[in-house]
Amino acid sequence: MYDWLNALPKAELHLHLEGSLEPELLFALAERNGIALPWGDVEALRGAYAFNNLQEFLDLYYQGADVLRTEQDFYDLTWAYLLKCKAQNVVHTEPFFDPQTHTDRGVPFEVVLRGIKQALDDGEKQLGISHGLILSFLRHLPEEQAFKTLEQAMPFRDAFIAVGLDSSEQGFPPRLFQRVFDKARSEGLLTVAHAGEEGPPAYIWEALDLLKIERIDHGVRAFEDERLMQRIIDEQIPLTVCPLSNTKLCVFEHMGQHNILAMLERGVKVTVNSDDPAYFGGYVTENFAALYEGLGMSEDQARRLAQNSLDARLA
Ligand code: ADE
Ligand code: ZN
Repeated sequence: MYDWLNALPKAELHLHLEGSLEPELLFALAERNGIALPWGDVEALRGAYAFNNLQEFLDLYYQGADVLRTEQDFYDLTWAYLLKCKAQNVVHTEPFFDPQTHTDRGVPFEVVLRGIKQALDDGEKQLGISHGLILSFLRHLPEEQAFKTLEQAMPFRDAFIAVGLDSSEQGFPPRLFQRVFDKARSEGLLTVAHAGEEGPPAYIWEALDLLKIERIDHGVRAFEDERLMQRIIDEQIPLTVCPLSNTKLCVFEHMGQHNILAMLERGVKVTVNSDDPAYFGGYVTENFAALYEGLGMSEDQARRLAQNSLDARLA
């Protein structure tokens, strides 16, 4: 099914590695690490994947990430994702990881990074998938802790292309992280940020003007602000849109309401991404398929969306 969508060469620019943890692997890692889980089996866990908003998802996502303990765990997580990329003709990926989700549980930064980076390097050699890794700060934690995370990352500076900002958006505006983003840029890192997923257009303005981001992650609420839309079009600032995520988290009630194609037709550089595929019902091809089935995407639009993703790469 959808071989033609699968066959399009694509880049994925918005993917949380922790969000690619499939229930089967989650259970396998729990067993390997001797961790008791609150769900009886894989199906019971899948049954819990019903969310009314971003926070309900994040609560489960952080709970799931607790099974990731060793370098091998992070390697296995990343490798499983890369095999999906290979199967879907994702030729380049720029994944996020959230170090604080792990260091706050006592897993050393270098354990997380080494496992992920080894798998990404192997993916480049063995699968031909190129990458650029993005270190994302958790915005529900204070900026001080983001500074500490950046400090931990600096011995491994060459492993990253950019820093990002994710987690609970409402009430945690980009301006709270201006200084740590300044510091990251002074180290030569590029910047991206989640903005306008649940938060207002004002957060997108802040991310552009204060965090000086190269791309907007989500950004679907830019549609509410005509001046912002014009800027995004004029400056060709890419948006990494995640259709299945947006419907699963009730940003849009159903796919027929999604604004990605309206933005595409207005000249916005929108791309299609999976965000947290294990939780939202699919990887990049499934996101394209959902736009075809639920929003009437044409073949020409699919090709332009795929080309946008290749054009919007940072690495
Ligand atoms: N972390 C993982 N997925 C996320 C999302 N969709 N928004 C914010 N933070 C996230
Ligand atoms: Zn995201």
